[in-house]
Amino acid sequence: MDSSRRNTVRLLARLTWVPLGLLLLPLRIRRKAQARPAEPLTISLPVPDGLSIHGSVVILSEGSEYRAFSTRCTHLGCRVQEGDTSTLVCPCHGSRFDTEGRPFAGPAREPLASLACRVDAEERALVVDPES
Ligand code: FES
Repeated sequence: MDSSRRNTVRLLARLTWVPLGLLLLPLRIRRKAQARPAEPLTISLPVPDGLSIHGSVVILSEGSEYRAFSTRCTHLGCRVQEGDTSTLVCPCHGSRFDTEGRPFAGPAREPLASLACRVDAEERALVVDPES
């Protein structure tokens, strides 16, 4: 096969991936949308230091500082669980996430969705905003 013919075949082979990517795009968008809880979540304070799971939200508590993440694994959407004090584990395919929600093992490549949260001092509660 001459080089121009080979290049044409390669180009056609690459172009077949474009429609496939367009077909899969809605799945990626839906998966991202599912990564967030539907309604604001109010969690009574205090929460334990370190990682703790409250429904569909992971809370990282360090003194009076709080961070919130979705429990939806960014691989295929299973709910992550507490591993040890500094690790979250997905039971489906074994992805592991650090305290910042970053994946460090397994098939997940994207971090857990970070959610805005604030302390409601009057209610002594942590309010997690799913729209963040
Ligand atoms: S869904 Fe979590 S690792 Fe696959």
